Amino acid sequence: MSKFSEIKERDNKYFMNTYAPYDVAFERGEGCYLYDTDGNEYLDFLGGIAVNALGYNYPAFVDAITAQAKKVSIISNYFYNENRGLMAEQLVKDTHLEKVFFGNSGAEANECAIKLARKYFKVKGENRFKIVTAVKSFHGRTLATVTATGQEKYNKPYAPLPEGIGIYIPYNDEDALRAVLEDDEVAAIMLEPIQGESGIVPATESYLKLADKLTKEKGVLLILDEVQTGAGRTGKFWAFEHYGVTPDIVTAAKGIGGGVPISACMATAEVASAFVPGDHGTTFGAQPLVTGVGYAVCSKIREQGFMDEVAAKGAYLRAELRKIDDARIVDVRGKGLMVGAEIESGDIAKEIYNRMFKKGFILNVAGGKVLRFVPPLIVATEQIDLMISALKETLKEME
Ligand SMILES: Cc1ncc(COP(=O)(O)O)c(C=O)c1O
Repeated sequence: MSKFSEIKERDNKYFMNTYAPYDVAFERGEGCYLYDTDGNEYLDFLGGIAVNALGYNYPAFVDAITAQAKKVSIISNYFYNENRGLMAEQLVKDTHLEKVFFGNSGAEANECAIKLARKYFKVKGENRFKIVTAVKSFHGRTLATVTATGQEKYNKPYAPLPEGIGIYIPYNDEDALRAVLEDDEVAAIMLEPIQGESGIVPATESYLKLADKLTKEKGVLLILDEVQTGAGRTGKFWAFEHYGVTPDIVTAAKGIGGGVPISACMATAEVASAFVPGDHGTTFGAQPLVTGVGYAVCSKIREQGFMDEVAAKGAYLRAELRKIDDARIVDVRGKGLMVGAEIESGDIAKEIYNRMFKKGFILNVAGGKVLRFVPPLIVATEQIDLMISALKETLKEME
């Protein structure tokens, strides 16, 4: 029995059947490359789904883990640790946000945002509790966040769902935004600056600006879910910086840890003040290991010129995709290194994905028919070229 078939057999026997993995097991990575158990090399344009910001085996990442593991990994939140303050400071730097709560996953960061929004209005004595989200949004898999997720397939099986969440408005629809804000029980509007899981759909500038303006006028909170867009992914540290808006709460995960599980719910001091000791917590959150590693990763991303390069490489990737003269690619969109190429049909997109995989290129299909490119932020232009020529070759084979 090959090493892979053994891995697969044990996995199928013991691991809960919640994913449908591709027939491969990866053993190690280096830079933007992954290596499977047979030693085959793959150029990774998925990056653990927009997580591995600095690629694999990046020295600053490995050094931070090693050094911190030798000192102390977890001490509980009963005590101070230097790293959580450093990491929090790094996340809110140069923004209007002032306070951070750390969790372990994107869903948890959004769960925190929902609780904070509700607590904020409880403290103010206002009966605002409804959390409005967008159709085709994705906010996570906990019961509250899967209800916030505007896609029935994810939440319907878990009914009855929590009350006051799951009020969905069409994305980028300004009239729907105006209409829902007439409801004086609305506590918050929660939006992704770019819808990721449903196929890399950016908010229009006028839509996010209107959401910012109207929520401020009505005294409603604006929550931006930057779990996928954050930490330099779009060419700015936070995607909201492209839009010139000042959301009350911003959530993040994925890239901020560059490969360790850490998430953040950030807020203005006024909103954050609704939480008092005992209101919220999590054992693993904010601990020295993950915040130390996150701090090293985010410090690298914030280094002079790093995000400009992300923006330039993203523009190059989109330009190269647009140059492919093929009617099966119906749209190319995104910001920075969060790029989607919408394909004529889901079947064609999946076929492209499968063929690319066999050639040693890892992509992913989001929203049914959009090829998603979220490579490590350190991807080189030459690696983009390699992927583009493999994609052209694939499309040719499929003619
Ligand atoms: C925008 C957004 N929010 C929340 C989540 C959930 O994050 P996690 O899987 O870490 O809970 C995701 C995951 O893809 C996401 O893209």
